[in-house]
Amino acid sequence: MTTFVRNAWYVAAWSTEVDDQLRRFTILGDHIVIFRKTDGTVAALEDRCPHRLLPLSKGKRIGDTVQCGYHGLTFDGTTGKCTRVPGQTNLPNSAYVVSYPTEERHGILWIWMGDPAKADPAKVFDMPEFTDPNWAVHHGDALHLKSNYLNVAENLVDPAHVSFVHPTTLGNAASENVPVHVKTDGEAIVAWRWIRDAEPVGFFKGFGGFTGHVDRWHYYYLYTPCTAVIDFGSIETERKIAEEDRNQGVRIFALHFMTPVTETYTIDRWLHIRNTALDDPEAETTMDTMFRKAFNEDKEILEAVQEEELRPQKRRPIRIAIDKGPLVYRKRINDLLELERTEDLASDPSPAFVYHD
Ligand code: FES
Ligand SMILES: [Fe+2]
Repeated sequence: MTTFVRNAWYVAAWSTEVDDQLRRFTILGDHIVIFRKTDGTVAALEDRCPHRLLPLSKGKRIGDTVQCGYHGLTFDGTTGKCTRVPGQTNLPNSAYVVSYPTEERHGILWIWMGDPAKADPAKVFDMPEFTDPNWAVHHGDALHLKSNYLNVAENLVDPAHVSFVHPTTLGNAASENVPVHVKTDGEAIVAWRWIRDAEPVGFFKGFGGFTGHVDRWHYYYLYTPCTAVIDFGSIETERKIAEEDRNQGVRIFALHFMTPVTETYTIDRWLHIRNTALDDPEAETTMDTMFRKAFNEDKEILEAVQEEELRPQKRRPIRIAIDKGPLVYRKRINDLLELERTEDLASDPSPAFVYHD
């Protein structure tokens, strides 16, 4: 059974990954051909010709249309409708490919994978810091994981793993026994904790230039299904700030956009937004290096977990106190899947049967 929620915006690519060439992307198991039209906007079409099923990405872009590389059926980049069948004048109604709604913002290309009628651009994830001059945005990289996206997402609402998986960058032993709080805040599941009066972790020794003890926070916001924002930072302990005054410290948002590729493969595109070292490209490079190290630590864990999950299991995995965030997340995903299973995504809702007396 699929674990994919379809009626949602997913990140298809960084804007820089898309140009006038026909490129294939796989998202929720669908093959999609993506390219820029002549006006610079993006076309995203089912990457399979309805004739003999050749991927359209093996064909040719002609203006804003795509010509199949086998017998030349041609499809409109915006609507997916067939505009030409070589050798005949009539265009069969069934000659079309699915066209996916897209939305581009802050250098990120989003794609709607469900019923196009439900695609609302206002629902694309955004936050004000993207355009606020007091913050610097830096696009990081894409982490490829041989793992189902649910495990990747759970890792992003789980501050407790940091002490054990990232002991030299994002965590240290001071946080091992600090309890995690969890709440829901509208669409977000929030898991957080503060580690007070402790040695700064490697990341903030590097950035804040902290030498004495700091208060450090970790707030994990997980938006269903696939966006996570990790708000973390540090401030000198003696400044005793209130929890909501985190902007006074060195504060970083690490954003993760998970794209489920298949049931066992996920791409996590990450970027960061920071309120420190705004014009310092060197800080960016150093941060990227630290993030890469940390995220590769996650990758190793998550791929090993995936491998074990696929092997026969004799009993259910146990749950402990820190699992509250992941549990709420799984519940929300299951509710959405149930909703999508029980409503017909795009066809005529009238019953296909007739009652007889
Ligand atoms: S397979 Fe595409 S035109 Fe024949
Ligand atoms: Fe991690």
